[in-house]
Amino acid sequence: MEKNSWINIKTPLPGPKGQGVLDQDHQFVSPSYTRPYPMVAKEAQGMVVTDVDGNTFLDFSAGIAVCATGHCHPRVVKAIQDQAAKLIHMSGTDFYYPQISTLAQKLAEITPGASDKKVYFGNSGTEAIEAALKLARYATGRNRFIAFYHAFHGRTYGSLSLTASKPVQRKGFGSLLEGVTHVPYPYCYRCPDREVDGTCNPACLRVIEEVLFNSMLSPMEVAAIVFEPIQGEGGYVVPPKEFFVELKRISRKYGILLVADEVQSGMGRTGKMFAVEHFECEPDIIAVAKGIASGLPLGAIVASSKIMNWARGSHASTFGGNPLSCVAALETIRLLEEGLIENAAVVGKFLIQRLWKLAERHAMIGDVRGLGLMIGVELVKDRKTKEKAVEWREAAIQKAFRKGLLLLGCGENTLRLMPPLIVNQQQAEVALEILDEVFAEIECQRVSF
Ligand SMILES: Cc1ncc(COP(=O)(O)O)c(C=O)c1O
Repeated sequence: MEKNSWINIKTPLPGPKGQGVLDQDHQFVSPSYTRPYPMVAKEAQGMVVTDVDGNTFLDFSAGIAVCATGHCHPRVVKAIQDQAAKLIHMSGTDFYYPQISTLAQKLAEITPGASDKKVYFGNSGTEAIEAALKLARYATGRNRFIAFYHAFHGRTYGSLSLTASKPVQRKGFGSLLEGVTHVPYPYCYRCPDREVDGTCNPACLRVIEEVLFNSMLSPMEVAAIVFEPIQGEGGYVVPPKEFFVELKRISRKYGILLVADEVQSGMGRTGKMFAVEHFECEPDIIAVAKGIASGLPLGAIVASSKIMNWARGSHASTFGGNPLSCVAALETIRLLEEGLIENAAVVGKFLIQRLWKLAERHAMIGDVRGLGLMIGVELVKDRKTKEKAVEWREAAIQKAFRKGLLLLGCGENTLRLMPPLIVNQQQAEVALEILDEVFAEIECQRVSF
């Protein structure tokens, strides 16, 4: 079925070659991965992914918000190829090379805050969070952390201790890091106070000081509050500005560091380089990964030189900040600054407006929210009760896939739209058309998966 120049589904899904890969994968690859549908990628260019059977899909997942510049952007590919012919690895832990220092300077320049900054490099989001936790303890001499329910910060033991997104992510893994306390994240769509009088009365924001500090935790033991400026895996939840004002107040009053996890929300996705910029928030430590290098593994934390003042040998990584990832990141940032951040803001706004229009026709759309190209569509069975349409969300993802649109979910009942930042309005229209069809089919069948 050819729907447009991007999507062409010509075999059943998975196709015969795809099925062969699935069989091999199921035999040899860890079953812990999530894989919501049988998409078997062969190659990808820009917004389009081609599977091993020649079917083409429009990608609104960007490899989980990673391929910021689109798949295989020619300038990123060239930067990687040129670098690969010269120096692939040396290890920033023990040696110097210009790519790592140039990228560090660039990240220091583009992150919020005027102070002198320093950058630590790892290979992933979870490593960035591990580094942030260690640095926060080291810099403050304090042990404890505050994180938020529904947060996702990664899956290694430190970051997993902060993650509170799904029980399966923790179940069976034994004891985690001591001293992490979770508090509610402001979730305006489901805020009981808002429902009472229709205004923002952020009681959830006062929990830290009024409840936690008064009942069980001395603020003077807290090294850092770790937060996502927009909750990602938790449901693409955008907090009110008051959240950031309160975090800053608490942080300054008690000397607690603010660690912003911008792993998913950073690198232009929200229409600004970092999501905290929408809220005039200057965190003490920023963690980045995912979109930073258009698909090559890289994670980083950025902090003031005063905070990132740990001893030689105290933290490092063999591969972190390898030359290939660094040049890919430098080219990615150039492309973001040359127009992709602006494009994310413009196309994101268009998508959000049009999704609200769709909501006029589809009662199952309870909420549309987001900034730039970090957009969540929360599905409900009933707009009044806000009963979560968990199976309909699953059905929507499956149906969209079969129509050639790659989507992922977040939270229990939210669809997330996180295309590469190169997406244009025509491609957004195609995605909207498919979503319109998908919602209509679900409403008509009341699909239960
Ligand atoms: C906000 C956030 N932090 C951390 C991570 C962990 O990143 P990684 O999977 O690269 O370890 C993720 C991954 O989804 C994330 O969304």
